[in-house]
This record gives sequence, C-alpha cells and structure tokens, in this order.
Amino acid sequence: MLLLAGCINQLTIAQTPVLTLDFTKPGANVSPMLYGLMTEEINHSYDGGLYAELVRNRIFKDNKNTPEGWSLVQDDPAAKASIKLIGASEEKRPYDERRLAINGALSTCLRLTVEKAVGRVGIANEGYWGIPVRPSTAYKASFYIKGTDRREPFRHPWEPKPTTPPLPVIENNTAGPITVTLESNDGKTVYASGTINLEKSDYWKKYELTLATAADVKPTKDARLVISTDRTGQYYFNLVSLFPPTYNNRPNGNRTDLMQMLVDMKPKFLRFPGGNFLEGPLITDAFPWKQTLGPLESRPGHKGSWGYRPSDGMGLLEFLLWCEDMGAEPVLAVYAGYSLEGDHVDAGPLLNPYVDDALDEIQYVIGDTTTYWGAKRAADGHPAPFKLKYVEIGNEDWFDRSNSYNGRFTQFRTAIEGKYPQLTCISTIADAQYPDMKVTSGKAPAVVDEHYYRNSWDMWENASQYDKYDRNGPKIFVGEWATREGAPTTNLNAALGDAAWMTGMERNSDLVIMSCYAPLFVNVNTATATAPKAWQWDSDLIGYNALNSYGSPSYYVQKLFSQYLGNKIVPVTAANIPVQNRPLTKKDSTDGITSKTVPTVFYSATMNDTTGVIYLKMVNTTAKKQAIKINLDGIAKVAPEATLVVVKGSEPEDTNSITDPVKIAPVTTTVKGITKSFTRNLDPYSVSILQLQAGK
Ligand code: AHR
Repeated sequence: MLLLAGCINQLTIAQTPVLTLDFTKPGANVSPMLYGLMTEEINHSYDGGLYAELVRNRIFKDNKNTPEGWSLVQDDPAAKASIKLIGASEEKRPYDERRLAINGALSTCLRLTVEKAVGRVGIANEGYWGIPVRPSTAYKASFYIKGTDRREPFRHPWEPKPTTPPLPVIENNTAGPITVTLESNDGKTVYASGTINLEKSDYWKKYELTLATAADVKPTKDARLVISTDRTGQYYFNLVSLFPPTYNNRPNGNRTDLMQMLVDMKPKFLRFPGGNFLEGPLITDAFPWKQTLGPLESRPGHKGSWGYRPSDGMGLLEFLLWCEDMGAEPVLAVYAGYSLEGDHVDAGPLLNPYVDDALDEIQYVIGDTTTYWGAKRAADGHPAPFKLKYVEIGNEDWFDRSNSYNGRFTQFRTAIEGKYPQLTCISTIADAQYPDMKVTSGKAPAVVDEHYYRNSWDMWENASQYDKYDRNGPKIFVGEWATREGAPTTNLNAALGDAAWMTGMERNSDLVIMSCYAPLFVNVNTATATAPKAWQWDSDLIGYNALNSYGSPSYYVQKLFSQYLGNKIVPVTAANIPVQNRPLTKKDSTDGITSKTVPTVFYSATMNDTTGVIYLKMVNTTAKKQAIKINLDGIAKVAPEATLVVVKGSEPEDTNSITDPVKIAPVTTTVKGITKSFTRNLDPYSVSILQLQAGK
C-alpha cells in the first residue's frame, strides 16, 4: 500500500506543471510602449460616448430628412406650433430658407413656428439615448437663436419664381425670455432651468447659460433638454450644446468616468483616428482633420465610416489633449490614399496632395510656433508641441487589392522621415501576415502593424506565435486585437483568451513593441422608437449608457497586465503544461488535420530591475483548479509574502453589464509562505498575477 501511495505521489508530482523563472541571465527589455489604446468613432465612441457633449444632432446635419433627436414640445393642445429642418438639402432650398446659414459649417438649422401661443412651446433634444442628470452639477448650455425672419430674400432676376408658399404672417413676438430646462422626458420634473433674453434682431446670436441641479436630484438618464417660449413667431436654432463637467475641466472635453477608466489602464500611447474611421467609405470621406480644428462653429462634421455622422467635436486637438490627459503618446494614423470601398489614389503626382496633407498634420502635432500649422495649434490654445514618435501610414492596406501600398507607403515614408528623421513610419501590411503584399521598395519598414480578431481557441492556439518570429525582421505593433466572445462587451472566456495572448506579447516584447485592443468603447443602448441601436461591432472593452459605465472582464485583465509590469522580461521554462483538445476549424479539416491540442495554462514574467519586484502572470483556462509549482532560480532571497490579484468566474460566459457592472472584477489578497520554490493553486477560469519581492 505504502509503495502504491508513494508511486501515486510520484505521479502527481511528475504531472504538476512547473514554471521556472530564470534570473541567472539578464532578460530583454520590456518595451516601454507595450500597452496602449486604439480608438476611432465606432459604436458611438465619441458622440454619445467619451466626448462629453450631451445634445444629439446639435447642428441638425445628422439626417437630411428629419431633425433626428429633436421633437416639438407643446404643453397645451390649444397651441399651434411646428418644427422644421431648414437648409439640409443644399440643392433645392426654398426661398424662405435662404440666408439662414451662420457660416459654411452651420448651414442647416431648426425652425420653431408658433402660430398660436398657449402655454409653453419649444424644442426638445433627447440626447444620446437620454441625457444624464446628476445632483449638484453645473451644465453649460449654449445655442444660436434668432427670431422671426421677415426679410425678403435676395433673388437674381434670372431665377425662377419661388414654388414654395411664403411664410405665414405670424405676429412677431419672438423678443423676450426664452426658457431652457433640463427635465424628465414627460416634462413633469424640472431638474434645472434658466432663461436668456432673446433680443429683437434679424441676426443670429449665441447665448450661454448654466443649468445647475440641486443636491437632492436623483441621478437619471431619462431626461431631455428643452428650449421654449410662450410667444408667437418663428424661432431659428443652431449649434445647441450642453456640457456637463469634463475630465480636467477641459472646455469641449471628455466624460469623466470613461477618462478615469482609461487613465487607470496606464496606457503608453493612443492610436487614432482609426481604424476604418481614418479611411472613410470613399476617398472623399477620409478623416478631415483640418475641418476638425478650431471653434465648434467651424466644424461641419463628416460622413464617418460606421453608419452615423460624427460631429467632429472630438477633433485632432481633442485627440491630442486626450493623450496628454492620460500621460500617453499619440500614434498618429495618417490617411494614405486608400478607402474602405476599395478606391485608391495612385502613388506619384496624384498622391502628392495627400502626402502634403499628412505633413501638415504632423506639423500641427509637433511643429514649433514659427511653422504655419504649429502657429495654428498655438492659436488653438496649445503652443507646446506634442510628443510623437510613430506615424502609421493608412489602415489595413492589405484590403487594397490594387497592390498600390508599396508605392504609397514609400512616397509617404520618404517625405515624412525625410522631413522628420526622428519619426518612424509604420506599415499596415505585416510581412508575416501578408508576405506577398509587403513593402519591398527601399529599406524594410522598421515597424509593421498586425491585426488579430480571434476566438479564445485561436488565441490559446496562437499565444506563442511570437516565440518563433524572426528577430531580424521588423518590430511588431499589434495595432488591433481582440478575443471576440460576448456582446456588446466581452465575457470571461474572451478575457482568458486575451490574457493568454498578452502573455505571448509580453514574453516577446523585445519584438512586440506596442499593442492595443479594439474596439475600445461601446454605447450599449439597443434601438428605441426614435434612435437606432448604438453599436455596430460586438465584443468591445468598455460599455456605457448616458449615465453609467463598466469594464468588461477583458478590461480588468488588460488594466492589470499594464499595471503589473516590470522593465525586464524574465525567461521562464515550463514543464508538464496540460493541454486540451480544441475543436477543429474548417481550415484544419481542409488541411487534413484530425486533432489539435492547445495548452490550458499560460504564463509570463517580468521584473523591475531597480526595485526587485517580480510580476508573474498565470492563466488557467479550464474549469479545474490547477496546482502549479514555481521555482525562482538565481535570486538570493524572496519576501515570504506576496500580493496576488485574481480575475475569475464560475462560467466562461460570465460577464459584466450595465446592470451588473462588477460581476467579474479583480480581487487582491496577500499570500504567505513564498520561498524560492513554492506551489500555488490557480482557480478555475482565472487570471492570476503574483507580485513577488526579490531580496538580496
Ligand atoms: O475595430 C473595428 C475595425 O476592425 C477597425 O475599424 C478596422 O481597422 C478593423 O477591420
């Protein structure tokens, strides 16, 4: 019996996975920019997301046919009033709709006609799936308004007579108080209100006021903004805006809760503005960075790439300030002459204006104030140049079947690196992913961008792919990656896929110098009677509605990976890592593969060589508890206590949501009994980070 017990014990010991951290040789440096963020206008990431503006369709250009987001408010049925979108169709503008543009950008407006005034009549904005109201909060409201327009429009003698009937003659009573309220959707509860005094004038004027809520207001998102009158006349509105307090109190700034979540991730860079958002469906729809600068009055918005019209309130400067607020560097993606529907601009003279545009953009970011665009940046309020090391030339140019990228990349790189030798241009075609399409002219690109959208099986299968990469090739920027399981935000299984994948990037961060997950944000609202579903892409990192926000399990795992990171890679050798069978893909079957296994445990280790802190990350992807033996080879001592942070759940489908925001969240404990060789149990479906202290 004793012999048998001894044998079983031997077997158990033999099968226990062992991780040996080797401190005898100095490991490679961890890339200082390993973890960053990627962003674009998708899923209402900015409008209805990070960008704090609360008014939807503030310049009335979202839809040519209807004032989306806006409705008529009429408290008494005896009143006679209507609203109409004016000037949206540029081609055929009835004569009474002329001269109503404030400027080229603000060329569409909303008209409120009050023929009979009984009680309150006005316009209401529903916000982005609601307007959030919080206690003791000051909201900055502003809008352009003008009263009845009775001037006869100028008409050239050769123009045909107007076909639309003239405006009804309404008693012009527009001058006087205009009330602005933040109120419940049924109008019964007023959370904050104020008035402006509309002057008697035929010209546009901007009015501003503060709406302050009381301390006893209960937070809600079921609110609307109403601008109203009790007098007859025709009232015209444009650029109606409402801002809550913003992160760092920046004017035209960002939502505080979402910014805090990002800052907590300690990102080293922000890749913007896309993604597909950079490219636009057609060449003429590319991100128009020049028209995103300056006052909101000069920003017409543009078509966007994800089925709705971005306001461009989040413009180039706002992206840069966002970086600054996170202590992150921009990774600037410049439009490179290829758009989503497949059109491209040929390298050569036709491409020159696009190259010049990119040079202008770079000058706006880093030029000193003696340069044209540097001076413009200073005039916009930021004299100091921003940091910039990397410029990405386009996005996913492997979709360009014309094979024009080699020429386009080369033309951009020659101009950019020629003028700014301190910058490095990133190619969007990676040698390993698209060997037949890679850039071949001139020197090889120093950095290439690889994108991976996979399920957790694929992540587990490929977590070690960088272990085998050629160290003489380009450095890798994993500019978009995600384990796509769960919607709208990812579930625990996806987080286990993410964690496994990140151990591979971290272990190889001499090669993988930067990485960022995508998409970052999702507004989780489903369709309502008046607004469509808010998101276009499943499996996102951070979810929110107008009032609340939450991190997915993937968010917590990524935040921890970034927080618990040394500056040196610690080589780890592993033994007895258990495997499991993975379902075969169609490709496997085509390739004649009949069975496949993937590891169930993943790991990486880094160390801070100044403080002696060691960070060991371990992932158990299975339903079983997993004992694991850890050897620390080559350190003199280790502190007997360590910090352990665990993200885990009981089912792979477990997830967080707007109503259950922290079902899966990190738990931190102290563990004792650490020696140079110890054993720990990894919980089922868990990511564990052990922070150990090496001593002398
Ligand atoms: O992240 C969503 C989209 O996926 C990006 O816009 C695009 O670059 C990729 O195809």
